[in-house]
Amino acid sequence: MSMLQRIFPKDFLFGAATSAHQVEGNNTQSDWWEWEQSPRRQEQLKRLGKDPRDFFSGRACDHYNRFHEDFDIAEKLNHNAHRFSIEWARIEPEEGRWDMSAVAHYGDALSALRERAITPIVTLHHFTNPLWFAKRGGWEWENAPARFARYCEFVYTRLGEWTPWWITINEPTVFANKSYFEGKWPPQKKNIVALHRVLLNLIDGHRQAFRLLHTIAQNEKRELRVGIAHQYHAWLPYSKLPWDIATAAILRYLTWHYVPQRLKNECDYIGINYYSGRRVGIRLKGFVEKSCENEETSDLKWEIYPQGLRAVLRAMWNAYRKPLLITENGIADATDAKRARFIAEHLAVLYDALREGIDIRGYLYWSLLDNFEWAHGFSPRFGLVEIDYRTLERKIRPSAYAYAEICKTRIPP
Ligand code: BGC
Repeated sequence: MSMLQRIFPKDFLFGAATSAHQVEGNNTQSDWWEWEQSPRRQEQLKRLGKDPRDFFSGRACDHYNRFHEDFDIAEKLNHNAHRFSIEWARIEPEEGRWDMSAVAHYGDALSALRERAITPIVTLHHFTNPLWFAKRGGWEWENAPARFARYCEFVYTRLGEWTPWWITINEPTVFANKSYFEGKWPPQKKNIVALHRVLLNLIDGHRQAFRLLHTIAQNEKRELRVGIAHQYHAWLPYSKLPWDIATAAILRYLTWHYVPQRLKNECDYIGINYYSGRRVGIRLKGFVEKSCENEETSDLKWEIYPQGLRAVLRAMWNAYRKPLLITENGIADATDAKRARFIAEHLAVLYDALREGIDIRGYLYWSLLDNFEWAHGFSPRFGLVEIDYRTLERKIRPSAYAYAEICKTRIPP
């Protein structure tokens, strides 16, 4: 990197991310699809006074059929990278039955990105599971890691030549916590033993996939980088009291390090998903938390806290010395009033980290499109591109153009 001229490196990846279930539409063979329509979920939504239609992924952005149009937008916005996920439930809709038309579809998507000079970054698991897998016990099932690795091997054998960048699992800690501890996502369990078992199986699934993919890459003489996309929240102590300092340190250990530490020999890079931060501590009444600086928040009330990204990057680099890739960073901002500044402030932090000598390969904004925000339904608007869910019309937001300018000039904000 040039020290004289303030500019991001020539091969720095700039782009945006999506995930299959959130944008594609009609993911009918998945556990989420079934859960969204289940009587249990309908009851819960009714009790909360919500309209169940806003919480059913349905046709989402119809990205499965409109990916050409969406990649045209990414190209127009000067993105040179794009992260998306392949849906396991489409590739293997029944145990051991592979759907070659789904493989061909993702091959078309990869080729469409390459035609536009956009480097694909492919996620193999982004929260959803095939329904058959969920019925077998999901990630609690003893064969889960092997079944997952078999699917990864199947996909990589057929599509691996398109890109060196692969992510096995998106946010293992978030997936395990929401689905097996907080009970907010399918299968809605609240069981700490299950949480731990699932986390270990996810780690094992990654390890097995990592090895299989590298064996194929070696035989085929392909360049390959396999990582996970891990979730980082900036945890600061509530006050200077020792137990508050300890609470923040414990959360940092559990959510930042527990997984990467176990994968340090099976990770070519670490994907960083960063959104926000919290101050945390302990009082007689129990766990307490507040914002880091009482500053602005997103529509989801997540504090905008770019400084937290600096701490995350330093901690990961110092602990593991692996290349880092920002696999997600974004804001729910329906009026687009804060998004451009949000991106600029995070990119400024990132650039400083690069100058410090931290090896960062790219930045992927979450998300290219407004999409189905899991248990929050369709109301949060994370997209650089606004979606009218009635007409499915795409409208590029002003902040997308501001980011496009940085992608083009590579001049840090
Ligand atoms: C997930 C995305 C999600 C985003 C915003 C991340 O935790 O990987 O799927 O949409 O955060 O909540």
